[in-house]
Amino acid sequence: MANYTLDMDKYRALARQVAAESCVLLKNDHQTLPVAKGSKVSVFGRIALHYYKSGTGSGGLVNVKRVAGILDALKETEDILLNEKLADVYEAWVKDHPFDKGAGWGQEPWSQEEMPLTDELVSEAAKESELAIVVIGRTAGEDQDAKAIPGSYLLTEAEEEMLRKVCGAFEKVAVLLNVGNIIDMKWVQKYNPSAVMYVWQGGQEGGSGVVDVLSGKVSPCGKLSDTIAGDIEDYPSTKNFGDAKENLYQEDIYVGYRYFETFAKDKVLYPFGFGLSYTGFQVETKSFQEKEDAVYAQVEVINTGDFAGKEVVQLYVSAPQGTLGKPARELKAYEKTNRLLPGEACTLTFCVSKADMASYDDGGYTGYKSCYVLEAGRYGIHIGTDVRSAGLAGTFEVKETVITDQLQEAMAPVQEFTRFKPQADGEGYRLDYEAVPRRTINPIDKIVKRRPVDIPYSGDQGYQLGDVYENRISMETFLAQLSDEDLACIVRGEGMCSPKVTPGTAAAFGGVTQQLKKFGIPVGCCADGPSGIRMDCGTRAFSLPNGTALGCTYNMPLVEELYQMEGMELRKNKVDTLLGPGINIHRNPLNGRNFEYISEDPYLTGTMAAAQIKGMGYANVTGTIKHYTANNQEFHRHDCNSVVSERALREIYLKGYEIAVKDGGAYSIMTTYGAVNGIWTAGNYDLVTAILRDEWGFDGIVMTDWWAKMNEEGEDPSIKNTGIMVRAQNDLFMVTSDSESNAANDNSVESLAEGKTTRGEYQRCAGNICRMLMRSPVMDRFLGKTPEDDLVVIGNEDDEDEEVKNIVYHTVGSDTNLDMSAVNTDRGNSEIFGIQMKEPGLYGLSAKMRSGADAPELSQLSMSVFVDNQLKGTFQINGSDKEWTNQSLDLGFVMGNHYIKLYFSVSGMELASLQIEKTGEMKMPF
Ligand code: BGC
Repeated sequence: MANYTLDMDKYRALARQVAAESCVLLKNDHQTLPVAKGSKVSVFGRIALHYYKSGTGSGGLVNVKRVAGILDALKETEDILLNEKLADVYEAWVKDHPFDKGAGWGQEPWSQEEMPLTDELVSEAAKESELAIVVIGRTAGEDQDAKAIPGSYLLTEAEEEMLRKVCGAFEKVAVLLNVGNIIDMKWVQKYNPSAVMYVWQGGQEGGSGVVDVLSGKVSPCGKLSDTIAGDIEDYPSTKNFGDAKENLYQEDIYVGYRYFETFAKDKVLYPFGFGLSYTGFQVETKSFQEKEDAVYAQVEVINTGDFAGKEVVQLYVSAPQGTLGKPARELKAYEKTNRLLPGEACTLTFCVSKADMASYDDGGYTGYKSCYVLEAGRYGIHIGTDVRSAGLAGTFEVKETVITDQLQEAMAPVQEFTRFKPQADGEGYRLDYEAVPRRTINPIDKIVKRRPVDIPYSGDQGYQLGDVYENRISMETFLAQLSDEDLACIVRGEGMCSPKVTPGTAAAFGGVTQQLKKFGIPVGCCADGPSGIRMDCGTRAFSLPNGTALGCTYNMPLVEELYQMEGMELRKNKVDTLLGPGINIHRNPLNGRNFEYISEDPYLTGTMAAAQIKGMGYANVTGTIKHYTANNQEFHRHDCNSVVSERALREIYLKGYEIAVKDGGAYSIMTTYGAVNGIWTAGNYDLVTAILRDEWGFDGIVMTDWWAKMNEEGEDPSIKNTGIMVRAQNDLFMVTSDSESNAANDNSVESLAEGKTTRGEYQRCAGNICRMLMRSPVMDRFLGKTPEDDLVVIGNEDDEDEEVKNIVYHTVGSDTNLDMSAVNTDRGNSEIFGIQMKEPGLYGLSAKMRSGADAPELSQLSMSVFVDNQLKGTFQINGSDKEWTNQSLDLGFVMGNHYIKLYFSVSGMELASLQIEKTGEMKMPF
């Protein structure tokens, strides 16, 4: 009996709806959009043919069956005609100027060469159609940030030229931005296109969602999840962004609109929360009430225009400046209406607790150090459809400063620096600075004081984890059986592409050694990432709209529903936790991974993350919220230290996580590569124990980012420092290629032996890992209680993929010869096998091939070699090559586990063997 039905039609429809609802219309003069039914459009810009479904790196590597690009979707819709002649010109040009994927992982350029336009081509097109659509695209991703240069944050000369020419020739021009994050918008004023819309990166169904908006099927209802300012230099973090070693968060809590609305209103081009619709809405607060702990408002929304559509009502608070200083506005609630027909009205009800309007006093300025306080004074509640235009709906008074939460100092900086502080100046505020309060409690003291008691070693008593699961014994009794060696092994996750779990995924954790398995500990599986399941062996999966797009929908129930489908897909693929959502704050528009993250605002970020986690929870799986925390720059991400005040951490950089944990029930979290206030997050006790577990009640697992480093404060970090990681209660080191042999050479065993990290601390992590496994589907599967294949039924998938399974793995030493004589080399056939490298290094691969006796002399026989589904090269021989011949290619740096796929496009080749040989030494690149 199937418990879940993964209806692919529904999945596609939901993703398409999210993509459509994420579109943010910034300008629409003369009703340029929607495209009048039956009219013709001329589409400019090469990205119309490619479409960025997502950014690059682990957040984008989903192997998809198909991606609906904007041009594909336009071709499919009957409501809009296409200037085919122009489309043909682009298609021919693109053949000679193929999409540049870049060389190597994450090396794709952030933009592509644009086709130069002649005046004739543009004026010919203008004769064919009244409306032009210009598509401009950008990608970005892991390990590199964007730059304020043409081709990245700025438009290239060719793109500007395209806009100049098209806007000169057409009266109606709609510019669509297929980007993962906001870009510079000065060109809008320069070329004055009549319509501008951010369409983001909408996953595999993105193009169809965009065309639903263009055709008017869906009225735009996305709202900006970030402020768009005039210039990159206007963002207060820009000054300190991009250093290799250290990043001072001087703007403190004044991130995004919190800064602009307080200090620099005139720098804003498009405010946070803004987005136009094809229709009009009247938004009116009908009632406002203050009760003891909360305020209530009822807001009526009437569709006053001619189209059906949705509106997003946003509620902001303005707290009194007090002694702490406050942003002029802070988002505290939002809700999207249902689709209202012209003339239709609805009422939305808001309830915001006063405690959620409190500020954190990190310096004792109010007399209440380390407390959330509501400072005395008048609080304003502003309701509207963007941060700037939200009008005062009501106020309430706090007579005396009230403590809403008493906490303990954690993660405070040790370094001296200054931060922004508003000073009243006439009507508004002037930017001033104050010294940031520094740490007074050393986390080491907490670690020592709160050390868990060791559970004495009992030896193997024959208990299994299933005995804990079925309540026969306690977790303590079970853990007592694990030796120091077992404890050292259980905190090591294995990957990437571990053969112990779903092929091609990021990591295996739990029962990764024979001994741990003997104790009945199953092996859990995690897979990237925020835009869908990444399986590097080539298994295909559904690609989802990216984080920024999700944020711009402001539609929690819709996002939750989409993620129910994702949950079932995870379950189907035997993945217990997705490595996403990414929920770092868009601190600066140049961060390379902003597309994976949601917003500059922590409330929007946290609520969207909670919706995703709840959605996946429907199928009893989860997501891993990442990267905890302040991972706001990719440049030198392994080494950069974020220097941040405790207040900014708590109110901005931790808040989204807090909401995801407390309201979303998140139980899996990933720390970052870098450091916060001098302590690398993967070994940061205040972060992963004091705040996460002791304050928020988190009871799940914490894992490192892949090959992250840990340090003792003041010392250099190293990936070997697992003792420090465990002491902090970061449960899992991700990843080693083999836990049993301690392939990453970590210091767990020594740490235990020397008592630097106690057995109790290791047992605490082991307990967290075991509890996580017990609440995951893998536990029942391991106990033989659920034949997993019966659980998820796929509906409406016409060409279901052959799942890649039963993969054979070969261990590869410095010179390994693999017999390939049994491989079927017939046309269209492919052979996939795994390799497990004994040691990292530079490798080459050579194949011994010849043409089969029956292959005609003139045939061209080829075999393509893919590593982890990326083409590495193609070997070619002719039908006349009847003698054995060797051809080789360079594999570059290889470590850990990988998949090799051989693909034969023409029958007739004979393959004898493959040789994989070490060609040089190279250290791990971090
Ligand atoms: C990324 C993570 C990702 C992990 C596994 C790292 O490089 O930072 O976000 O989940 O790799 O692929």
